[in-house]
Amino acid sequence: MKTSTIWMVAAGATVALAAVLLLDARRPGEGSAAAPAPVPVAPAVATPSGTGLPEVVVYKNPSCTCCTQWIAHLQRAGFTVTAHDVDNVGPIKRQQGVPEPLESCHTAIVGDYIVEGHVPADVIARMLREHPAVAGIAVAGMPVGSPGMEGPNPQPYEVMAFRAEGGWSVYERR
Ligand code: CU
Ligand code: CU
Repeated sequence: MKTSTIWMVAAGATVALAAVLLLDARRPGEGSAAAPAPVPVAPAVATPSGTGLPEVVVYKNPSCTCCTQWIAHLQRAGFTVTAHDVDNVGPIKRQQGVPEPLESCHTAIVGDYIVEGHVPADVIARMLREHPAVAGIAVAGMPVGSPGMEGPNPQPYEVMAFRAEGGWSVYERR
């Protein structure tokens, strides 16, 4: 055997030994096909829709069809909605601190916020994401063109953010 051949054999053995040492250095089970897959951690807030959006609890008059349309709009956007029919939503608005000039037909509770009237689902999602220091958001009255109030002549409207201590300001224009 020539010296160069002996060197090549020795180098090959070293590579093989290094590979064995590397395998041994792995934690048990790692890289093995028999190792169990890691169990995914469930999100803290789970919804049936799996979107991570909190449930929307709506108080509305049973004879109000635009409220039902608004609920359908929220559901299409991925919200889970629970609706309660009440003959008079007024006392709920007072109790939740909705400013009278911002009143609409239905009143909803989403997480720790109040949503009054035909607020678009994406604006609700923005509020939940940004978590502003407000009591809630509202679209006053029932502007044509807002979700659930679709019509031939849509009008611009404002989503107001109102504070628990009183007062409100424009949160978004549509
Ligand atoms: Cu309405
Ligand atoms: Cu309504």
